[in-house]
Amino acid sequence: MPLNYESVDFIEVLGKRRSCRFYDPERAVEPEKTQAICQAARNASHMGNANCITVTIVEAQETKDKFTEIVSAFNIPMAKMAPVSLVFALDRDLWYNGLPKGLPALFKMGGVNPSHGWSMDNIENTTLPRLTTFPPEIVAYLLSCETGMAMASAQLMATALGLGSCCYAGQGPKIAEVLGFRESMQFVWAMAIGYPGESVESMGWRPRSPYGDIIYKEKCGVPAVADPGVDAELTALGMMGEASALTPERLAAVNKAAEAMGLPTRTDENG
Ligand SMILES: Cc1cc2nc3c(=O)[nH]c(=O)nc-3n(C[C@H](O)[C@H](O)[C@H](O)COP(=O)(O)O)c2cc1C
Repeated sequence: MPLNYESVDFIEVLGKRRSCRFYDPERAVEPEKTQAICQAARNASHMGNANCITVTIVEAQETKDKFTEIVSAFNIPMAKMAPVSLVFALDRDLWYNGLPKGLPALFKMGGVNPSHGWSMDNIENTTLPRLTTFPPEIVAYLLSCETGMAMASAQLMATALGLGSCCYAGQGPKIAEVLGFRESMQFVWAMAIGYPGESVESMGWRPRSPYGDIIYKEKCGVPAVADPGVDAELTALGMMGEASALTPERLAAVNKAAEAMGLPTRTDENG
C-alpha cells in the first residue's frame, strides 16, 4: 500500500511534533506507516555505521496487554490507547560484532576517507581495537545516544505521516523478559504511535527554557543571543511559538479526550 500522506514541509514537521498523550484506539496505524517510521529509525545516524539499536513493534493485543502492565504508571493509559508501541533497545553485541563490519564497509563505500586520516590499516589496527574494547557500560552510554537519534527520526516521520507519538518509560528488566531480549540488549525507551486524540493546536506550544539559558557561545554559561528576525521567520514557518497556557479551551479539550477514554478529568484552570 502507498504511504498515502500529503506532502509536508520539514520545518513545519519540526514544529508540529508533540508528545501526544491521547490516541484514537479505534483507528489502526497502517502497517506501511509503521514500516516507514521504523525505516526512519534504521536510517538515522549510527556510530561507525554498526546499527546497534533495535525496535520491537508491539501491536498484537496479547503482547500489548502484557506490555501495558510493565510500563511506568503515568504511561499506562498511553500504552493502552496507542494502537502501536515501538520499543527501542540497544544491543551491546551489535557494537562489539557490528563495528568490525560497519566501519570497514563505510570506508569501502567512501563514507570515510583518507582525506580525514582514515585507512583500512588505521581502522583494523587502531580504531577497531580501541572501540571494541570499551567496557559494556561505556558502550551502553554511547548507544543510548544512538537510540535517541533513532527515536527522534521515528517521531518526526510519525508527525510527517499525520500520526501522534510520545516517548514513554517502563520497567527495563521486565520489558526485556516479556519481549525476549537477548542478554546483550537493554531497554531504552518506548514510543506510543497512533492517530492523535487531541489536535496540535490544542496541545499548543510547550514552555521551553529561554534560548540563552541553554545555548551558549564559546563558553558554558555565556548566553548565545538569538536573532529576533530569525525567530520571527521560524515562527512564521510554523516551527516555534509562544508558550501556551491552560486556557478554558485546552481544559475542555483535555477533559473531552479523557472522558472519551474513561480517564479522570481535571477541574482547575491553572494546573
Ligand atoms: C527520552 C524521553 C522520554 C520521555 N518519557 C516520557 C514518559 O515516560 N511519559 C510521558 O508522558 N512523556 C515522556 N516524554 C515526553 C516529554 O515529557 C515531553 O517532551 C514534554 O512533555 C514536552 O513536550 P513535547 O515533546 O510535546 O514538546 C519523554 C520525552 C523524551 C525525549
